[in-house]
Amino acid sequence: MNILTFDSDDKLNEAAANIIIGQIQTTPRAVLGLATGGTPVGIYKEIVREFQRDMFSFRRVTTFNLDEYVGLPVDHSQSYHTYMRKHLFDHIDIPSSQCHIPDGHAPDLHEECRRYDALIENAGQIDLQLLGLGHNGHIGFNEPAHALIRGTHVVDLAEATREANARYFDAIDEVPRQALTIGVGTILKAKKILLAVKGEDKAEIVERALKGPITTDCPASLLQTHPNLIVLLDSAAARRMK
Ligand code: F6R
Repeated sequence: MNILTFDSDDKLNEAAANIIIGQIQTTPRAVLGLATGGTPVGIYKEIVREFQRDMFSFRRVTTFNLDEYVGLPVDHSQSYHTYMRKHLFDHIDIPSSQCHIPDGHAPDLHEECRRYDALIENAGQIDLQLLGLGHNGHIGFNEPAHALIRGTHVVDLAEATREANARYFDAIDEVPRQALTIGVGTILKAKKILLAVKGEDKAEIVERALKGPITTDCPASLLQTHPNLIVLLDSAAARRMK
């Protein structure tokens, strides 16, 4: 595990963007695993800024997002489809046919999970998986549980997760209760994992995830077993790591 700490948001975003861009430059056909949420917004902004300087291309890149809410149409303002278009896809040269996000509005969600796993399988291994970290230790939407699921599945969102994400909706009742998420098996199969965490409110879970016991009660703790994990922390999130 390689842990890097940054004293500013900008520096963390720049470092993460450089790792992702470096991956595309060395592997033009890279398969990227992408995350949503507050943490990657600045990272995507930095990638777009660099892209506009015209130094690299996403034309042959394939992406798979971690998750999507159940029940939101893809064009809903808070769907992760909309998020990805707004923050990344609309600003780079990636063909939309190469951008994959599970469809949380599919008529048969279990069939959608199977379809998504097959797409990932066909693309080969994920070269670089970007992750954020939930306050309860979730990665993707793999919430703490007695047992974790390997592939894409429907998950009941933890109340803590709904509360954390309520800031994007008009009221907590509007936050979906379920999501589709890729499983921890798929995440851990990625060749390289980039975990980015920001903020004082994540300091405790960062410590548990990276230094605590490896347990399904804290899904991110499983990342300790990954042979190629890079962790980018801002100094607030790294406070308990000294
Ligand atoms: C997002 C995702 C989640 C977030 C996590 C942290 O696609 O899968 O695991 O990464 O909830 O969210 P933020 O960055 O908003 O604190």
